[in-house]
Amino acid sequence: SDINKIRNFSIVAHVDHGKSTLADRLLEVTGVIKPGVDNAQVLDQLQVERERGITVKAVTASLDYMYQNEKYLLNLIDTPGHVDFSSEVVRSITACQGVVLLVDANEGVQAQTVAVHSLAKKNNLIIIPVLNKVDLKNADPEKVKKQLKSVFDIDENTVLKISAKKGWGINELMQAIIERIPPPPADPNSSFKAHVIDTWHDKHRGIMCLTYIHSGRARIGQSVKWRSNLKQQTIKALALLRPHEEPVASATAGQVVMLGCGPKGGGAVGDQLLSLESAENTEIVTIPPVRHMVYAGIYPADQSQHHPALGQGWRLGFLGLLHLEVFTQRLLQEYKAEAILTAPSVPYKVKIRGSKLIKHYKSDELIITNPLQLPHPHNITEYFEPFVIGTVVTPTEYIGPVTTLCIDRRGTPLVPSPIDDKLTMMQFILPLAEIVMDFHDSLKSITSGYASFDYQDHGFHSSALARMDILLNGVLVEELASIVHVSRLEYNARRLTEKLKEMIPRQMVQIAIQAVVGGKVYARETLKAYRKDVTAKLYGGDVTRRKKLLKQQTEGKKKMRSVANIRIPRDTFIDVLKK
Ligand code: GTP
Repeated sequence: SDINKIRNFSIVAHVDHGKSTLADRLLEVTGVIKPGVDNAQVLDQLQVERERGITVKAVTASLDYMYQNEKYLLNLIDTPGHVDFSSEVVRSITACQGVVLLVDANEGVQAQTVAVHSLAKKNNLIIIPVLNKVDLKNADPEKVKKQLKSVFDIDENTVLKISAKKGWGINELMQAIIERIPPPPADPNSSFKAHVIDTWHDKHRGIMCLTYIHSGRARIGQSVKWRSNLKQQTIKALALLRPHEEPVASATAGQVVMLGCGPKGGGAVGDQLLSLESAENTEIVTIPPVRHMVYAGIYPADQSQHHPALGQGWRLGFLGLLHLEVFTQRLLQEYKAEAILTAPSVPYKVKIRGSKLIKHYKSDELIITNPLQLPHPHNITEYFEPFVIGTVVTPTEYIGPVTTLCIDRRGTPLVPSPIDDKLTMMQFILPLAEIVMDFHDSLKSITSGYASFDYQDHGFHSSALARMDILLNGVLVEELASIVHVSRLEYNARRLTEKLKEMIPRQMVQIAIQAVVGGKVYARETLKAYRKDVTAKLYGGDVTRRKKLLKQQTEGKKKMRSVANIRIPRDTFIDVLKK
């Protein structure tokens, strides 16, 4: 097809500003789905997404649209709507020439609006500003237009007004997409080059890749090579996503297509596919690698009682806490596998000394995803922790409390900027460790739910850190080791030992609970031995009650883990590090 009739775009928006609802309308006006039927947002495919009302995986739809008697191919590249998944937004955007920036005409500019706008700017994309929900009686499009002008310097005359719910202004938006976004800068006549935007696994056909073709053509049966490992493969599956698969024999530069190379086929997101004659060092696009922000130990639930520790587990990286939750939920729903997770932590970095150690690790810098991997402090010359730049959009009256919250979390405020007479945008440089657990909840509660938050990676910053161990009667509990900022040592030591004292049931022996850093005890609690049998007072009494108690005890046993003959309920490992 003619490249000049192709448009590649994404809809980007703050959570709940109506992205999925608008996508449904676009599918309707292009005849993919019937209007009026409750389509339950066809683009949100996963069950998890339906339940949580969030978009997790990006799904693409190629739409045909008639404009001035010509048929256009509009590729809508869907993006996830939650901060945790912002790296997926980046991937999608690499295949776009423009974005529809959707803003709720009642809520106005929010933290994620700021984040996605800056991402679109950075990638030199055309931005179509669109106010949604103008049907709401509290909608104030003029106010939000002024916000767009003052925050992003957007010309008020270019702002469209729609109601995705009522279907108002949808054709005007389609026309703006065709008129304002340029066709892809792709060359069908040079050799084949494409890059992977997304991948998923198909039971029968192997890895399927959503790809954007930069140049040349792709066809079934064609030999191609992956840039990452130069492995040669044959294209076995090729389809447009509408969003259901529509097989095609070939596809040209500028198109976004699904492509598969058989059961052992495929590359990772960001990898490139090249024709065999292309130079190996061809670089068409750089997609920043996915950065795991949160790590947690994960264990199969039903094996944990057989193993001295929590069972053979893995340490996995996640994009954020929501990603971690969605992951466990999908394991359960799609694979019927129940998993136990330890408290999440962030990755740290250390610079090490000692030629043996450096030789062993083949580097003088180590990324630490598990506190137990931290080398001895003698061998560490510098510690680093991951920081983010956080954006908060809040009603101006909460500037004080928000600043206090961020400073409490070891953050550095930047100069706030007003959005209008009621709203302010604030930015902070913050340690990731201070926000992964409960920052969002705290922010919501101090601002009566009115502030919104988003963050972006700000790299590793030098920091003062130490490993804190928990000992029970002198024995290390591996799962409870943590890496802590030195200013938090005393507080965390006290909180952890007190919580453990509450959570560990009394046993036959007295238990000393200690928080230790580098041989120094920071806090200690003593859990007294219990005095009598739990059922003693029931002897001769109510038999069913006694049976029930014993049953509870044996059930309890299964979920116990022993350290130095001390039995610890399994949940303790997950709950104790939570705030
Ligand atoms: P994420 O998938 O989490 O990013 O959310 P989203 O941006 O896709 O929002 P979604 O389309 O799920 O809409 C959020 C809520 O706003 C839903 O309850 C929609 O019914 C509602 N909504 C969307 N568009 C409109 C609109 O034009 N008018 C009104 N009144 N409500 C709307």
